Amino acid sequence: MQKKIKRIGVLTSGGDSPGMNAAIRAVVRTGIYHGLEVFGIMRGFQGLIEDDIIKMESRSVANIIQRGGTILKTARCKIFHEAEGRKKAYDILKKHGIDGLVIIGGDGSFRGALEFSKEHDIACIGIAGTIDKDIFGTDFTIGFDTAVNTAIEAIDKIRDTADAHDRLFIIEVMGRDSGYIALHSGIATGAENILIPELKTDIEDIIKSLQEKERRRKLVNIIVVAEGDEYGGATNVAKIIKDRLPETETRVCILGHIQRGGAPSCLDRLIASRMGYHAVECLIEGKYNVFVGILNNKMNYVPLEKVGKKKNNIGEEWMKIVKILAS
Ligand code: F6P
Repeated sequence: MQKKIKRIGVLTSGGDSPGMNAAIRAVVRTGIYHGLEVFGIMRGFQGLIEDDIIKMESRSVANIIQRGGTILKTARCKIFHEAEGRKKAYDILKKHGIDGLVIIGGDGSFRGALEFSKEHDIACIGIAGTIDKDIFGTDFTIGFDTAVNTAIEAIDKIRDTADAHDRLFIIEVMGRDSGYIALHSGIATGAENILIPELKTDIEDIIKSLQEKERRRKLVNIIVVAEGDEYGGATNVAKIIKDRLPETETRVCILGHIQRGGAPSCLDRLIASRMGYHAVECLIEGKYNVFVGILNNKMNYVPLEKVGKKKNNIGEEWMKIVKILAS
């Protein structure tokens, strides 16, 4: 018979994303509602190994739903990649009597959790939190919507100055090896070209279209480049374009970490609250070693064993739309 979970820990791991606080709040309050004791683990798996653990009360998560970052702080922990580090982590959890762990993070954190659950008697539940939206099995990841809206706000501003000077701007957005932030923010800002790792980039085609636009005196152009694109980001793309079109006034703007901060959007607060609630329900119901996602507006519980990157599911048609709408 499955043992009843009485004490749970919650941590945030990997890159922070706006909405993680809303998820922490949901986990803590749902846990307390079910009579569980809830512990906050600071700095992800790193804090776990270092026994940096605090008892959470309902009030500990007051006034955080609207805040970016994570009150538990986060880290990318190398020691947890090794069995010895995971054993240390397990011993600390046992010391506190914690038998269920909620991990808010991305696919890398889930893979760590999978190894952990295979080696030790600990129930792990993941919550999909990353701005990259690159996890297979969920339509949403906490933070993506906010990050995209931040990118849109920035690109709109860049378009104002691009327009004033008749310039070409090449703007780099985050996403690691995923092109979703670029695709969404590019389409929503009317970018002339969007370069993403999921689709082959035809740089000759981009140069031709810039030359053609020049002939038509369409001199304001925005190209959004995903940091993981095959050309290696905006700076490299700009170099190639400058070599081929030296007369074109070109500027590069790398949006960087502003995409990770700020107050979470309504959508991110909602999905974080929903996922946090269901993560605790999973622990109560004995549905262990899964991550909580949302697919077709229904909760989706993906076994940690099946965690993988979303692969190449951005269709060519998107780029056709981009070209037609920005002509
Ligand atoms: O995974 C989130 C993310 O922001 C990626 O988009 C980006 O490539 C990476 O993290 C940056 O990591 P760091 O904050 O460690 O530089």
